[in-house]
Amino acid sequence: MAIGLGMGLAARAQENPQGRPVTAGPGTESGIATFQQRCMGCHGNPNVPLAPAPDAIRQMSPEKIYEALTTGSMKPQGDALTEDQRRMLATFLSGRPLGSMQSGDARNMPNHCASNPPMSDPAAGPEWNGWSPDLANSRFQPANAAGLRPDGVPQLKLKWAFGYPDGLSAYGQPSIVSGRVFVGSDTGFVYSLDVATGCVYWSYQAKGAVRPAVSVARVEGHSGTKYAAYFGDAHANIYAVDAQTGQELWTTRVDDHFVARITAAPKVYAGRVYVPVSSSEEFSASDLDYPCCTGRGSLVALDADTGARVWKTYMVPEPKPTRKNSRGVQQYSPSGGSIWNSPTIDTERSAIYMGTGDGQSDPVPDTTDAVVALDLKTGKMLWFYEAQANDAFMGGCNGPTRTDNCPKVNGPDQDIGNSPILRKLPNGKSVVVFGMKNGKVFALDPDNKGTILWQARVVEIPKGQENSFYAQLNGVVWGGAADDQNVYYGLQSGGMVALKLGTGEVAWRAKFPTPPGTRISNSAAATALPGVVFLAGSDGKLHALSAADGHVLWEYDTAKPFQTVNKVPARGGAIASIGPSIVNGMIFIGSGYAVTGTNSGNVLLAFSGE
Ligand code: HEC
Repeated sequence: MAIGLGMGLAARAQENPQGRPVTAGPGTESGIATFQQRCMGCHGNPNVPLAPAPDAIRQMSPEKIYEALTTGSMKPQGDALTEDQRRMLATFLSGRPLGSMQSGDARNMPNHCASNPPMSDPAAGPEWNGWSPDLANSRFQPANAAGLRPDGVPQLKLKWAFGYPDGLSAYGQPSIVSGRVFVGSDTGFVYSLDVATGCVYWSYQAKGAVRPAVSVARVEGHSGTKYAAYFGDAHANIYAVDAQTGQELWTTRVDDHFVARITAAPKVYAGRVYVPVSSSEEFSASDLDYPCCTGRGSLVALDADTGARVWKTYMVPEPKPTRKNSRGVQQYSPSGGSIWNSPTIDTERSAIYMGTGDGQSDPVPDTTDAVVALDLKTGKMLWFYEAQANDAFMGGCNGPTRTDNCPKVNGPDQDIGNSPILRKLPNGKSVVVFGMKNGKVFALDPDNKGTILWQARVVEIPKGQENSFYAQLNGVVWGGAADDQNVYYGLQSGGMVALKLGTGEVAWRAKFPTPPGTRISNSAAATALPGVVFLAGSDGKLHALSAADGHVLWEYDTAKPFQTVNKVPARGGAIASIGPSIVNGMIFIGSGYAVTGTNSGNVLLAFSGE
């Protein structure tokens, strides 16, 4: 999957048709390419033992790396770079923007909550805890928990806004638990805020950007602590902190590959934390000095009380040497199979499902671009369904920058970036539904080893463009929502489609008016409650649609500056990956997504009908 989690290079090129220079966000490919070309000759080279390993540099703060390049021991190397490249490198390597270390700390904010009363039991009240309110990833909030009816939606008004200081992407899906918001940021700070006022209870600084949603659950074995907040960062670290105070309980690194990271929300269930691991190796491993490719996706189960590993299952077998490239650098395969989505827990079948990304090097195992089912207890693979075969993709491999590291055929860069949705039909039959970037949607049978129940095509590839790389990327990216009738997917090409869960037939389509000549994508995940579906877009507009026929009930433009409760300059931008979290009549969403190089933003918005 491309870009930092966003769309691939391809989509990025699409969103930037004029070839405007892009500002890199954390984890974009520009940093990794510069690092390979300018730094890896020493860092990671056994003949230069004094140079810290790439991994050690990634644990440093952006300020420290920037300082090394501008005034410190790496000044000669830094002088050979542009100021943009130095900043980008510091941002990419540390996984956090420059300048946020002080400003992001809650202790330096003016809006502390007056007191921090004991948290109520999260399970007792309505909540949106993690990527979806349920383990099945339906992103559907039932009526009693939502506290919002279709006729109340037009009355929604902005209640407060919170700014992530010096942030560039507000891509954390907020979790709403016990009357508190728990949310991570690209600056590496995780915040606990009050739902009613946005006052801040605490912040915790992780060692890298925290994109995944936070999950809160009961924890044992830490005196004085009842509930832990669990989250992962851009360096494949996972954390448990006291949900009441933000005090660290444990941290564990789940993968030691140089570019391993956690981009999707772990699931916490029955005393375990299930962590999806992805890799940024595909952004640009085409440099001939780079031994491509060894990064691979995995799912890791940890003990929720201690962080100790229970099992780890890789999505592709261990990489083995294949050939030497034209510069004599050893190449490896298989690689890839990143998990970009939050896994789906099936308590009835004691299974866990996840979508995998493409491969990076030839040959590509058939567990890539697949939905994979593991045994929840042991991690043993139960079955998989490969939705796209032979997809080896690497950034920089289409066009003149192509090298001998590249796959023979590059792409089509499909990935299953959305969480499989597990739903029970009215006839009692269960389905596992997911979509792909090419617009295919699949329903699998979890009772029959993932055999296919139906397949639909929600985006047509225009005639004559069957072989176009870009035409394959107009479909489903970050995911849908489902009620007991339909599954609702936003589309990369714009708009939304509702499909009948039982058959895959189109129930309705919605298009949003767009200014002529502009391209707006609705690749973000949807959110549903009875009668209403929410979907945001790359233009920052948040739409509420009728679940019955797709007509627009309410719209709000988030792409503008906001006055914030913590008094930091903040603005909204693109919303490209998340949907709103809805609890007790309030809705919460972050706006800003620098990962695609445009429309950055750093604001968390809270709406209510009162
Ligand atoms: C010619 C070899 C070489 C190259 C090329 C090189 N480094 Fe280094 N780097 C080193 C060595 C050796 C050290 C340890 C220096 C020391 O401890 O004084 C180091 C240290 C560092 C440190 C730690 C500085 C500190 O204060 O602890 C950072 C950060 C760093 N390098 C980043 C980079 C980046 C980013 C690049 C690419 C733009 C790069 N280096 C290119 C050899 C190199």
